[in-house]
Amino acid sequence: MKIGILGTGNVGRTLAARLVELGHDVVIGTRDVAATEAKAEAEFPAPLRTAPEAAAHAELVINATGGQVSVAALQGAGAENLAGKVIIDVSNPLDFSNGFPPHLAVCNTDSVGEQIQRAFPDARVVKTLNTVNAEIMAYPAKLADGDHTIFVSGDDADAKATVTQLLREFGWLDIVDVGDITTARGTEMMIIQWVRLMGPLGTLAFNYKLVR
Ligand SMILES: NC(=O)c1ccc[n+]([C@@H]2O[C@H](COP(=O)([O-])OP(=O)(O)OC[C@H]3O[C@@H](n4cnc5c(N)ncnc54)[C@H](OP(=O)(O)O)[C@@H]3O)[C@@H](O)[C@H]2O)c1
Repeated sequence: MKIGILGTGNVGRTLAARLVELGHDVVIGTRDVAATEAKAEAEFPAPLRTAPEAAAHAELVINATGGQVSVAALQGAGAENLAGKVIIDVSNPLDFSNGFPPHLAVCNTDSVGEQIQRAFPDARVVKTLNTVNAEIMAYPAKLADGDHTIFVSGDDADAKATVTQLLREFGWLDIVDVGDITTARGTEMMIIQWVRLMGPLGTLAFNYKLVR
């Protein structure tokens, strides 16, 4: 599949590497190609393009930008390049402006997933993967042989089916469709507990497992 990833942080780079490994046609979008290429830590497993070029290339777009800037980042990619497309939203609206622990910039009655769906009504937003770290997103089998849970939220059944297939390619086994895009509120709020578990557990490689 032709996939455009917006976000050049750890998540964007890790998902890009995994998708290339799985044989997908991936480009990574950034606001300033030259500035991003010049970053010392940056190694890009797929071609780096402007955000509009990456979105135009894609049948499916992944939003891996900060939750507080996601709508702006997607606006930068151009609504015309997102129309009709599936957008996987992995963002969290974590606000570290008052240090640790962070709070959520949006929660309870709204979510970044919903903000994106409202801003781009012609796109089909699916919230998923935001409840685990980048390595586990891409390689779930590295933790407990994949015996743990990932959630999907979205209004469009076909889009959720496409995303579920991609999650299976990553190795996800227990994929729970929580419901429409408003259910992204719950999965975004789960991150508040996740960041508080990092210290006591002493690792980023953990996840929730739903038992029923
Ligand atoms: N790190 C994890 O393991 C993890 C786990 C779960 C969920 N998440 C979520 O995944 C998302 C990505 O996380 P990350 O740690 O990889 O990266 P990040 O540092 O949260 O975000 C990096 C990206 O945000 C973009 N960005 C920053 N300010 C922007 C602005 N004003 N307008 C447009 N774009 C802007 C940057 O774009 P440029 O390339 O243009 O500079 C960069 O690509 C976040 O929402 C995070 O909460 C992360």
